[in-house]
Amino acid sequence: MKERHPKNPCSLHGGGDPRSFIEQAVCSISQQVGSDRAVCGLSGGVDSSVAAVLVHRAIGANLTCIFVDNGLLRKGEAEDVEKVFRDHYHMNLVVVDARERFLGKLQGVIDPEKKRKIIGTEFIRVFEEESEKLGHVPYLVQGTLLPDVIESVSSKKPGVKVKSHHNVGGLPEDLRFELVEPLRTLYKDDVRLIGTELGLPDTIVKRQPFPGPGLAVRIIGEVTQERLEVLREADAIVREEIGKLPEADELWQYFAVLPAIRSTGVSDSDRTYSYPIAIRAVKSPDGMSADWARLPYAALEEISRRIVDEVPGVNRVVYDITPKPPATIEWE
Ligand code: XMP
Repeated sequence: MKERHPKNPCSLHGGGDPRSFIEQAVCSISQQVGSDRAVCGLSGGVDSSVAAVLVHRAIGANLTCIFVDNGLLRKGEAEDVEKVFRDHYHMNLVVVDARERFLGKLQGVIDPEKKRKIIGTEFIRVFEEESEKLGHVPYLVQGTLLPDVIESVSSKKPGVKVKSHHNVGGLPEDLRFELVEPLRTLYKDDVRLIGTELGLPDTIVKRQPFPGPGLAVRIIGEVTQERLEVLREADAIVREEIGKLPEADELWQYFAVLPAIRSTGVSDSDRTYSYPIAIRAVKSPDGMSADWARLPYAALEEISRRIVDEVPGVNRVVYDITPKPPATIEWE
């Protein structure tokens, strides 16, 4: 266990023991929520999953998880979440199909921070609507981590944010829930250790981080159904191919990005004018800084071949070789 904050008793409580962190977290959640009910925005990622299991341990059936299919998820993700949490963990799970609603709100929106705000706000609206159907639910569980908190409030210039991560910075001002954020003092690798200690499967514990605004911040420019389909298919290939490599476990994230340009290509002697796909694969200790992964050329070649062969509308694949800083991990 890393001791990043040896003097901070709230950061894994003295710097070492996931079990005592869990005990203390469960205890303080029970104290905070009491016999009230809570709703959790489950995304299927490690953060919200660990937060949900911790809160479930503390308050049991008084927790209802809401999974919003916002249409901005990766291929197969919605189905996986249902399988794991409803069938395996037997948690109260409500699945909301909000795909058209989100796409409608994002129509014509290009600015990344506006996308984040819209998506964050819409998430909360959906939660409110769904939890109202459940009766009186005063608490909202979120898997907010320490880097989200830091990056949302700090930057080199006072008052200027790097990015407003939606689960911290983009909450609407009239939010009617009180927040339960049991992971606020933790970094990602700590959360994974706690997830393992809680008995969560590797498919969740080792899942790479995925931003709340989802594919919307990996589509540069306007999010449309057509562009979502292109990116989703390309991203599935990137994840499948890199996932086969032994070095995959050492990577923080690997995914596809769809830039807002087209470029010229040639297919069966005809000129094409289609999208490029950028591959982003990074190593990082905590998401605050990152370096691009030196992937084997053979893997990059196979990804490129498969994407241009299998994804209609793509005629070029590029590899992003920029560290953070100066780039960020996500393109938006
Ligand atoms: P950046 O792009 O800022 O990303 O280098 C650092 C880490 O944060 C994730 N990220 C987000 N997570 N909402 C989130 O919940 C967001 O808006 C958001 N933007 C970036 C990113 O995937 C990376 O792991």
